[in-house]
Amino acid sequence: MHMDIRISPDLDALSRAAMDETMGAVREAVAQRGRFAIALAGGHTPARMYALWASEPYRSQTPWDRVHLFWGDERYVAHDDSLSNFRMARETLISHVPIAPSNVHPIPVSATPQKSAETYEQELGNFFGSAAPELDLQLLGIGTEGHTASLFPGSAALEEKQRWVLSVEVAATPPRRLTLTPVVLNRGRRTLFLAVGKDKAEIVSALRNERNPQTSKYPAARIRPAGSVLWLLDQAAAG
Ligand code: 6PG
Repeated sequence: MHMDIRISPDLDALSRAAMDETMGAVREAVAQRGRFAIALAGGHTPARMYALWASEPYRSQTPWDRVHLFWGDERYVAHDDSLSNFRMARETLISHVPIAPSNVHPIPVSATPQKSAETYEQELGNFFGSAAPELDLQLLGIGTEGHTASLFPGSAALEEKQRWVLSVEVAATPPRRLTLTPVVLNRGRRTLFLAVGKDKAEIVSALRNERNPQTSKYPAARIRPAGSVLWLLDQAAAG
């Protein structure tokens, strides 16, 4: 499948490229809509980018009162758990920037998984209105088997046509997750996939050779929003 790819020499350069793309999306969204809504990715790869965002020049360039942070997925663990995507973002970014708590929209994990998914859908609806959310920017990672957010191969969530957020059981640690569905992720205005390291080279190559993305066994291939999709790879992941 066609992939718009930009290769950086290493994680630091990739993270700077991701921040430059993000600041462009911020400027565009604020100019056009007066606000910027981003879905943050979890895992390890984006941590360096978040730390850059909390440092100069990006920290001062960002109109934090206009920025709203959402998440593409969350592990169903407490927000102070070391596996929490919210905790990773709080430690690298949120604690270091002047963003109002009302602009930070973590996926709740305090009720049952199903109730938490419903609650997040309500939060999305409160912000975006009744039509499916159109995030200004979606940050997504990719697993070695092709998962993205917490959409894993073979998951029924890949065929979801109504729900915006689902609770899923996945073959990863921890297994219980909450994830945006393709209903939302295929409406993003801009999407950045971040992939770093030689362990991602095989899946990146498989995606590049994928001939039927719409029915691909790789969930990342199924995320094909009308908006721009840019793959930021380091040299190792590019193979
Ligand atoms: C998560 C992420 C997940 C992640 C990939 C890549 O909750 O784990 O949302 O989709 O982006 O697993 O993770 P790494 O960046 O750690 O390789």
